[in-house]
Amino acid sequence: MAQYNYQPTIWTRADALKVHEDDPTTTQPLVPANFPIMDNRLFIWDTMPLRTLDGTIVSIDGWSVIFTLTAVRDPKRFTDKNGKYDITADWEDRHGRARICFWYSRDGKSWKFGGRVMKEGVSPTSREWAGTPILLNNNGDVDLYYTCVTPGATICKVRGRLVASQNGVTVENFTKVKSLFEADGTYYQTEKQNPYFNFRDPSPFIDPVDGKLYMVFEGNVAGDRGSHIVGDAQIGKVPPQHTDVGGARFQVGCIGLAVATDLTGDQWEILPPLVTAVGVNDQTERPHYVFKDGKYYLFTISHKFTYADGLSGPDGVYGFVSENLTGPYRPMNSSGLVLGNPSSQPYQTYSHYVMPNGLVTSFIDSVPVPTPNPKDLQYRIGGTEAPTVRIELEGDRSFLIETLDYGYIPPMQNVKLRKRRFGH
Ligand code: FRU
Repeated sequence: MAQYNYQPTIWTRADALKVHEDDPTTTQPLVPANFPIMDNRLFIWDTMPLRTLDGTIVSIDGWSVIFTLTAVRDPKRFTDKNGKYDITADWEDRHGRARICFWYSRDGKSWKFGGRVMKEGVSPTSREWAGTPILLNNNGDVDLYYTCVTPGATICKVRGRLVASQNGVTVENFTKVKSLFEADGTYYQTEKQNPYFNFRDPSPFIDPVDGKLYMVFEGNVAGDRGSHIVGDAQIGKVPPQHTDVGGARFQVGCIGLAVATDLTGDQWEILPPLVTAVGVNDQTERPHYVFKDGKYYLFTISHKFTYADGLSGPDGVYGFVSENLTGPYRPMNSSGLVLGNPSSQPYQTYSHYVMPNGLVTSFIDSVPVPTPNPKDLQYRIGGTEAPTVRIELEGDRSFLIETLDYGYIPPMQNVKLRKRRFGH
């Protein structure tokens, strides 16, 4: 590990004080309350487009493929006191029964449901949480990196195959799950150190400079809950009235890094975090890269409710940029905020994934429904794909420039699969 000699970049409270909701260049346009639902029987949220290790979004034999965290809507189980479907309770329960499913499409937006990737019983824990499907070759082989959660939180992968035909896409052989690693307690907080720890969401990639296989993931900085110090380095340069940090020591998010011993990605070594958010925010979820103009753009999603005392910012995607994989990174747009929800619809979208072509996909969480009396605020639950938007990356800055169709995830490259000798 000797060649990895770097200090994590500190996302400071001073940086985060520069986060401003509703700046039009970093705000996702309003999603209308009459949005379409992809499938009325299902909730979908985190969306994972099929890609290669260099980040290219690919189709296979002309079929686009996405993987989603998915739960079956359950109107019988979730009812309110009048016996009516309580969709909010159902939606809030979904994390505990998340399953990874896949969808395919000819036009990158009319998604057909393909079903579960792993059959029930294959994944060793009760929750299949987010990760990344990687197309390995033109046989259709896929490494699905994901998180096995409850009990524990283990970064895992399962290798299977996607098969394309005239009629669509099917999955084969996602049957053997391999555990890769868990939080180590030295760099990354364990469940023992903090029952509310976060450790998940692997995103593997090949570093365009050194050609090695790495992954970024969500973690928290190691140490017992409450023991972290929010000192001058974490606070940054703030005006006098901002030196009191309240209970900010409980927010200890970080973006983790690991390196594989070779390109098979079967053995991994944990490295120090790339970016830490001690005293700033407790969750830096689904980190992922875009490589452009010789720069490393490192994106991560975060929430309003996970900010530390004295700070705030919208749910959305945040970014950090560097000329080197191991940093130091600069928060994009000075603050880190790249694309947030408008303050009038703070939960409209989440789990943004920035693709190398500048398109950003996310899902709809909930959108306020206009009512005659504004006091009767009601929300329409989504559980479906949000409109894709396009951002442009220019140096350390980003600009929102376009809104596209719901769930529009076009391929950047089509991979023609080899004909199978014993094909169907
Ligand atoms: C983001 C997220 C991920 C996690 C999943 C659980 O929306 O919190 O970090 O893997 O959702 O449902």
